[in-house]
Amino acid sequence: MDNAQPRSGSSVVDAEALAERVLIVDFGSQVTQLIARRVRESGVYCEIHPYHKVDAAFVANFAPKAIILSGGPASVTDETGPRTPAAILACGVPVLGICYGQQLMVEQLGGAVEKGRTREFGRALLEIVDDCPLFAGAFALSSREPVWMSHGDHVSILPAGFRSVAVSAGAPFAAIADDVRRLYGVQFHPEVVHTPRGAELLRNFTHRIAGCGGAWTMAAFREQAVGAIRERVGSGRVICGLSGGVDSSVTAVLLHEAIGEQLHCILVDTGLMRAGEAEEVVGLFSGHYNIPLVHRDAADAFLGALEGVTDPERKRKIIGATFIDVFEEEAHKLGGADFLAQGTLYPDVVESVSVHGGPSATIKSHHNVGGLPERMNLALIEPLRELFKDEVRALGRELGLPEALLGRHPFPGPGLAVRILGEVTAARCAILRHVDAIFLDEIRAAGLYDEIWQALAVLLPLHTVGVMGDSRTYDQVAALRAVTSTDGMTADSFAFDHAFLARVASRIVNEVHGVSRVVYDLTSKPPGTIEWE
Ligand code: XMP
Repeated sequence: MDNAQPRSGSSVVDAEALAERVLIVDFGSQVTQLIARRVRESGVYCEIHPYHKVDAAFVANFAPKAIILSGGPASVTDETGPRTPAAILACGVPVLGICYGQQLMVEQLGGAVEKGRTREFGRALLEIVDDCPLFAGAFALSSREPVWMSHGDHVSILPAGFRSVAVSAGAPFAAIADDVRRLYGVQFHPEVVHTPRGAELLRNFTHRIAGCGGAWTMAAFREQAVGAIRERVGSGRVICGLSGGVDSSVTAVLLHEAIGEQLHCILVDTGLMRAGEAEEVVGLFSGHYNIPLVHRDAADAFLGALEGVTDPERKRKIIGATFIDVFEEEAHKLGGADFLAQGTLYPDVVESVSVHGGPSATIKSHHNVGGLPERMNLALIEPLRELFKDEVRALGRELGLPEALLGRHPFPGPGLAVRILGEVTAARCAILRHVDAIFLDEIRAAGLYDEIWQALAVLLPLHTVGVMGDSRTYDQVAALRAVTSTDGMTADSFAFDHAFLARVASRIVNEVHGVSRVVYDLTSKPPGTIEWE
């Protein structure tokens, strides 16, 4: 976490926790952040740094208790690909190489890696062939364990000092160990949920092998983040856009704790919010937290800028630009501001740009990340940038935010605009707001709200023929979507019973003028995304 530096005056817990730092060296894998998440879950503070920034001075200064080398898209057989900084393998702390990280370690220590005839992508079976402290309490000798693989190359010759401790069909050295130098490597990905016991393996690495005690908690994160915000902001002024969602609320309360009256919260009513949302936010923040809040009605500006626009990426960029216009106007009214705070989360980052500037594909420009215009005069401050949603909820709990707010389903920054396919107009927003309210109302009434990660309605750019009473209708189609997920990175369609869906569909068609047909989206993520645009 870039923004989580130790500060003077930290508590004892904080000092102990920070003495156990794990360095994660990023070679560009899509799932590097999951390694960090698993390490944090085991109570150990960690930071991710790109491989090209890690040299001997960096390692000495960072003083890690252990180092993890991530996977990556390159091939070790390509001599121009990234290499492990020499300082790492020589520094004497335990090192775990994952996938590309394992192959690099092997190649750099005198072993060999070759292109495989059989590539392994997805589920594979790992056969445990020798005891290893990585496996303690997780994988038994001779057992076959499901793991998740994603590789073409594999290790073919081990460097001196290593032994093979597990094999798979496509990887003769699927897990390797050099207990004397405390160097370990795995071809599979222990950080993903598809390796069911992978978290235990990582915990074995940080706790058993590296000797970490696991004292790091969200309380320590809070202290570090508050310290880092104070240091960065100094005597500057910060404006924070509040949407009423979990992320912006946690960001605002954290900033308020750090900088008090230097924080100015603004609720921008984009005209793209859900029913009753603006009023709820004002009630909570001004009423409950006593955090002053400017309520700015900017619906005309947003809907005006979106007129005639149907392309999803253009919508996102326009909304990002309009937000900045509004924030800059509000900053001007305050007599100037230096920073704009946003509740950007890791999944927003990874799907917009690579978190550390490395190579990862852009899926969509999340408005609070890739959608921001270049010309912005405010520096960005994003204290949650490397957290996942459930970690943000845990931080919110730590900060004392009410459960009802923390349990709210995520709602995207660009709001209903990315759920209205085709042109976004005030009339279509009103229709969708009504559909959405009915769907959520029924979900709450059925006691299902907390089982669902996110439920949403989408208005399609279609008209279909229907019959109501004795008349023909020719109205729009609403799609309903509800998913389960743990982090928004992958998701499954929620399995409502048919009677529930039929009841919701009937209410929508009867109560919402302009919608005559309702469908339910069964697509998982991947291949679908959660939002439709
Ligand atoms: P997708 O649609 O990419 O969404 O599967 C993953 C999660 O991110 C939310 N989302 C956003 N959140 N700004 C946000 O703050 C955005 O621009 C944005 N777009 C999508 C989405 O609702 C889901 O929870």
